Amino acid sequence: MSFLTSLARSWLTRSLKPFTFKSDYDQVLPYENLDNLGLYVHLPFCKSICNFCPYCKKLYSEEESNRYIDALIKEIHLVGSQSKEKKKVTSLYFGGGTPALSAPRIKEIIEAINEHFIITEGIGLELHPENVNKDTLQILKDAGVTKISIGIQSFREKYQSILGRRSVDTKAMKEALEAVPFETVSMDFIFALPSQTYEDLKADVDEAFELGANHVAIYPFIDFTFTSSKVKALPKKEKRALLDAITKHCQEKGYPRSTIWTFSSKPEAKYSSMTRETFLGFGCSATTLLRDQFKINTFDVDAYIKRIEEGKLPTSLTIRFKKRQRMVYWLFWTAYSTSVDEKDFEKFFGVPLKKMYRFELWLAKKIGYLAEKDGVYTMTLKGAFYYHYFENFYTLSYIDKMWGIMRKEPFPKQIKL
Ligand SMILES: C[S@@+](CC[C@H](N)C(=O)[O-])C[C@H]1O[C@@H](n2cnc3c(N)ncnc32)[C@H](O)[C@@H]1O
Ligand code: SF4
Repeated sequence: MSFLTSLARSWLTRSLKPFTFKSDYDQVLPYENLDNLGLYVHLPFCKSICNFCPYCKKLYSEEESNRYIDALIKEIHLVGSQSKEKKKVTSLYFGGGTPALSAPRIKEIIEAINEHFIITEGIGLELHPENVNKDTLQILKDAGVTKISIGIQSFREKYQSILGRRSVDTKAMKEALEAVPFETVSMDFIFALPSQTYEDLKADVDEAFELGANHVAIYPFIDFTFTSSKVKALPKKEKRALLDAITKHCQEKGYPRSTIWTFSSKPEAKYSSMTRETFLGFGCSATTLLRDQFKINTFDVDAYIKRIEEGKLPTSLTIRFKKRQRMVYWLFWTAYSTSVDEKDFEKFFGVPLKKMYRFELWLAKKIGYLAEKDGVYTMTLKGAFYYHYFENFYTLSYIDKMWGIMRKEPFPKQIKL
């Protein structure tokens, strides 16, 4: 598996050199001149820990969460004050963990962000189903949150028990969502769970839209090696049949695909922290993607707080890109939106996309992965499946290895992927 990703990487970057992440880091981040910058804030605490979940998370304690948020606000000021003027950014997303557990302090975090940044496309935040009540939603809305994402995983009892999740009080959820509306109400599902049928998945998606969602994210189950979960995903053929069938169903019901994993019932309903050319991340495990570098913060809450108290950035590892490596990163992140506009590529890199990847684009069109119209390359149904497939490989070969190490070592010396 890692042989395949290495091969693809070597081909696309035209180099045998691996991606090397090192511990030296920049205390001043060059983000001032970037367009389309997004922001991400990570809050790692959860009321209970799901054994399938790979994210950087910790059991909630009010005292620790408060100390963490104090440090987080300092990190925002450390980075934000590096820009001479208030910097325009597209969006701000809170992920986790379960950020809604810190609802009473979200306003304070947003105010810290607003001191340095101007957010033009709204603020998104993740909730566990148990956080969906009128009071919490109102606190979030008053703080400025405009989009919410609820981690349902499945409404079916069978899959909830496979995943070790409790059942969802759908009546209370519907009432709360009706009482406190948001521009985007997204619900997360996991598919390709053992013996999962199309009927099961369809019932989940339909129920989400009936309960008030206008956006759903359907993630393929990934069996990370460092989690204790024993759940195995469905084989490739069944996964593809499920994905194709649910994509068609969503399209027919009037919920077209909005990104590789998401479907929405209106174009304004968006929830994606991924499809950005560049972004700044704050908090444990948060990543930052700039013009020539990608960096990742430490996963360890204590180490994170200590660094910030010393007035230093909590960066654990940084990769400084060669030109082709950066192009592959750009294409990979941008392709989450299922289309790539050659004008955007040329604006970012100053060279035409066709000049750099003429053969690959021709091949992808020839084998039916991409369709082109006026310089915009859009993934076909087949292309979207293979993107999923490649993403899975990438996740298991790169992210799995990296996160597996970072969960144990706050500041590793170097990681080669
Ligand atoms: C940070 S959680 C969402 C918010 C909240 N903590 C919750 O669980 O409801 C982000 C999402 O990642 C997805 N996810 C977690 N572990 C996964 C795995 N092993 N494979 C695929 N998707 C996963 C789930 O759909 C989950 O809702
Ligand atoms: S899935 Fe959500 S609630 Fe469960 S451990 Fe992961 S972040 Fe926490």
